Amino acid sequence: MRYIIVSNRLPLRGKPGSNGAIEFTPSIGGLSTGLSSYIKSSNITEYLWIGWPGIDIEEHEQQNVTDKLLEDFKCVPVFLDRNLEKYYYNGFCNQTLWPLFHIDPANTKIEAKCWEYYKKANDLFCDKVMEVFKEGDIIWIHDFHLLMLPQLIRNKLPNATIGFFQHIPFPCFDIFKILMSTWRSELLQGVLGADFIGFHINDYVNNFEQVIARVLRINCDGGRINHQNRLIKYGALPMNIDFKGFSTMASSLTVQRKAEQMRSQFYGQKIILSIDRLDYTKGIINKLKGYGNFLKENPQQHKKVVLLLIAAPSMRKVKAFDKVKKQVDRLVAEINNSFCTDVWFPVFYDHKALSVEEMVTIYTVADVALVTPLRDGMNLIAKEYLASRNDQSGVLILSETAGASIELSGAHIVNPFSIDDIAESLKIALEADPFTQMLKNKSMRSRLSRYNISSWAEDNIKILLKVREDNIVKRLIIN
Ligand code: G6P
Repeated sequence: MRYIIVSNRLPLRGKPGSNGAIEFTPSIGGLSTGLSSYIKSSNITEYLWIGWPGIDIEEHEQQNVTDKLLEDFKCVPVFLDRNLEKYYYNGFCNQTLWPLFHIDPANTKIEAKCWEYYKKANDLFCDKVMEVFKEGDIIWIHDFHLLMLPQLIRNKLPNATIGFFQHIPFPCFDIFKILMSTWRSELLQGVLGADFIGFHINDYVNNFEQVIARVLRINCDGGRINHQNRLIKYGALPMNIDFKGFSTMASSLTVQRKAEQMRSQFYGQKIILSIDRLDYTKGIINKLKGYGNFLKENPQQHKKVVLLLIAAPSMRKVKAFDKVKKQVDRLVAEINNSFCTDVWFPVFYDHKALSVEEMVTIYTVADVALVTPLRDGMNLIAKEYLASRNDQSGVLILSETAGASIELSGAHIVNPFSIDDIAESLKIALEADPFTQMLKNKSMRSRLSRYNISSWAEDNIKILLKVREDNIVKRLIIN
C-alpha cells in the first residue's frame, strides 16, 4: 500500500543557493511539520508527496529539480507559473479562502480571476496525481488549497481511495456564503469526491454539515453522506505531534547544553515564549499589546521577565501580511523603548524560521508559552511546548479560538481579542502554583503521548479503508 500525499506546499522549500544551485530547506507550518514527522516517526517508506516547491523555476531546469526531489526526497513537484502563484496561491488561497475560513471577511477578496486560477491549479495537481498513480495507492489530499481535487480525481478514477484533511477551520454558512454562489457549490462538490473528510474539531464538522445542507441540500447523517451512489464519511480527528520525538530531543545533550547557555543569557528572568508564522491570524499584535499592558500594570515584574518573540517569515506576498510585519516591528520598538533599562530589554524579537532543535531548546527554557492566535485550525506549537517539558513545569496560555484548546483543558485559556485578558493571563501564569501546574501538565502530556501523530494518521487511513470496503460492497449490490 503506497500513500500519495498531496498538499499545496511540499515539505521542502527551494531557494537559490550560493553556487547558483537550488537548495532545499524544510517548509514551515503545521501541515508540513506534522505530516513529515509522521513519515519519519512511523518509518513510512512507501509514499510520494506531491506539491509546490515554493520557488519559481525556469522551464529548462524543471526536469533536473524533478529528478532530484524524487530521488532524494520522494517528492513530486508541481511548478506554479507566475500567474498561478499570483492568482491561485496569493489570490484565491491566501486572500479569499484563508481570511474567510479564519472568519475575517474584511480581508476577504472576491475576484473571478482568482477563482479561475484556483480551478486551473487544482486541474494541474490532478494531472500530477494521474501521472504517478498506481492501482492500490491511497491518495491523501491536504487543506483548503485543494478543495476541488478529490472530485477531479474521482472523475478520472471512480474507484480510487481518496482522503481529504482540512487543516484550517471550516466556517459556518453565514461566513461561507460570502463566496459567490457557484463557487460555494463547486468547492463542496469538489471535496465530496473524497471518501473521508477529516477536520480537527467538532465545531468545524458541525459547520461543514450546516454548509453542505444549506448549499447542496444534501442530508448529512452523523458522519455519513450518501452521494452519487457512494458513501462518504466525515468527522473530527485532532492532529497531533510526534510526542516521543519532541520529548526525546528535549532531553538530548545538545539541547540541554544550548538551553543552559540560553538560561544564563537571560539569568534572573522568567522567559515568556511566542513562536508563530508572521500571519495576521496569529494575533501577534494583540499579544504584544497585552504584554505592554502587563508591563505597565506590573512594574514589580520589570527586569524579571523577557518575551522571546519568534515570527517566522511567511512566504505569502499579501498586503495584510506586510502590514502585520510593520505593526509588529513598531510595537516591539515601542515596548522596548518604553521599558528598557541599561541591563534589560523586555522583548527579544527574531524574524526567522527556526530549526526543530532550536525550537525545542526554546521550549525547554520557556517558563510560559503565550499561544494566542485570533483563530487557528489546531496550533501544534502549544502541543510541542508541552511535549518538550519533561519536568512537567511551565504554563501554557492558549486562545480559546485555537482548535487545540478543546483538548488542552489544563492550559490557561484566554480570549485573544481581549488585550486585558492577555495581560491578566501573564500575571496569573507567572504567579501560578508550580505543583498545581505540574498536575495539569502531566495530564495534558499523558493525553498527547497516547494519541500522537501516528495515531492521528492511522485513524484517518483506517476510516478511509473502511469506507473503501463499504463502497466495494455497495457497488456489488448495485451491479
Ligand atoms: C497553514 C496551512 C498550510 C500551509 C501553512 C504554511 O498551516 O494550513 O496548508 O502550508 O500554513 O503556509 P504557506 O502558505 O507558507 O504554505
